[in-house]
Amino acid sequence: MFHAQILTLFPEFFDSPLSCSIPKRALAADLATIECIQIRDFATDKHHRVDDTPYGGGPGMVMKPEPVVAAIREARQRQPDTHVVMLTPSGVRFTQNKAMTYVNKGSLTLLCGRYEGFDERICDYVDEQLSLGDYVLSGGEPATMCVLDAVIRLLPGVLGSPESAVLDSFTEEGILDWPHYTRPEIFEGKEVPDVLLSGHHAAIRQWRKEQSIKRSQQRIQES
Ligand code: ADE
Repeated sequence: MFHAQILTLFPEFFDSPLSCSIPKRALAADLATIECIQIRDFATDKHHRVDDTPYGGGPGMVMKPEPVVAAIREARQRQPDTHVVMLTPSGVRFTQNKAMTYVNKGSLTLLCGRYEGFDERICDYVDEQLSLGDYVLSGGEPATMCVLDAVIRLLPGVLGSPESAVLDSFTEEGILDWPHYTRPEIFEGKEVPDVLLSGHHAAIRQWRKEQSIKRSQQRIQES
């Protein structure tokens, strides 16, 4: 079974996305467990402060090291072999390959920040810094949800057909998925490509491969 722990100030953020569709099924079938750890529970001062103003001045607040590091220690105590990932826009980019390596780790701990970011010293207590992309979210929670979703659907037994995960976009290094069609055969004058109706399996395979390559080249040009 795959175990995930989420270190967050907003555990309620995850209630809805984890209670529908594939994550819901995976949790109900005991293929994964997901547990939230409230960072604020580890603040020791009277006001349970988790953030403070930045040294050197400037806007915003910074997450304090004491409660965050105490929460990381709790996560490591609960799951000694866990891989601790800090979500931050300055981390390494998340990819499908990374999702696959996380599946193999068996236990993942995702640390979500808020405000301007983390006190830099916290980085010494995590195994990896991960970014969803070159944009700034208001916190690590939406990034964590994307990572978890990408990992959960790869767990053995989660998807109906094991082929679905293997055949996805990106599973083959950098190659995008081919176009998919379903009924009706003509929608608002737009027809399903003839080859897909031909029943000629080799021709269909060839067409899909060509379309994947064409689409991948187009996306490179667009970005
Ligand atoms: N926190 C804020 N922005 C983020 C991003 N782009 N990726 C991961 N964590 C984040």
